[in-house]
Amino acid sequence: MSKTIYDGNTTQYNIRTVLFDVGLDPSHFDGRVLDIGCGKEARVVVYLNENGIEADGVDPELTIEKPFLIKRDASKGIPKPDNHYDFAYSSMSLFKDGGASNRYFIIKLTDEKRFDVIYTGRKNCMLRTVNEVVRVLKPGHDFAVWPYPAFFAEDVRPKLERKGIVLRKDEVTEDPDLSGKILEICSNKKSMYKALGYFGLTGFDDDIMHELTTDEFMHRMVLTKPG
Ligand SMILES: C[S@@+](CC[C@H](N)C(=O)[O-])C[C@H]1O[C@@H](n2cnc3c(N)ncnc32)[C@H](O)[C@@H]1O
Repeated sequence: MSKTIYDGNTTQYNIRTVLFDVGLDPSHFDGRVLDIGCGKEARVVVYLNENGIEADGVDPELTIEKPFLIKRDASKGIPKPDNHYDFAYSSMSLFKDGGASNRYFIIKLTDEKRFDVIYTGRKNCMLRTVNEVVRVLKPGHDFAVWPYPAFFAEDVRPKLERKGIVLRKDEVTEDPDLSGKILEICSNKKSMYKALGYFGLTGFDDDIMHELTTDEFMHRMVLTKPG
């Protein structure tokens, strides 16, 4: 079976771009893969299975049924045994709004207490998901998250390192779709900040937002389970 990567569309982005961003090259990969937040149609996961790679996808919004798809919030548990997967990734999923910019802007504009109230729910969900993914990963194997969730990564780094989990920030270069995605996340963040206006948080600076977002999009977070 051919393992050539092609430019089919996913829910959001083309398959080649998603695989590129998370650092998975199907033509040089053997083993089981897990996609966290695979999207409604799980097109990357479907593509991988069609091309001879055993891949499972988890997403509460799934609209199709396949034996390798799990309709579920990953933070509530991944129904797979320990040490099951060779690689896990998450593209534009629950981690995408947990980046540095959130903390940066919010701290800049208000006090830590208000920031904590806004952040806590998402952070716990992200952390529970990380713990679940690490459980189902084989020792010494990687979980890649793109775009780089800067604040979350720095915030949880000491906690993860105490468990022996290594956290890296890897550069993503030559992404052909990068500028379109940066524009999109900037506009997502603008709506988010507009919503924060309800809490009295206003005045976000477009230039700083663009700079931080670009940095997040040009990197992925890679967690390695202790071997
Ligand atoms: C923007 S879509 C990205 C879909 C796909 N990964 C892609 O790159 O095209 C984000 C997806 O993340 C899923 N998601 C968000 N939180 C999740 C969670 N806790 N567990 C599993 N999936 C989650 C959403 O349901 C949504 O389908």
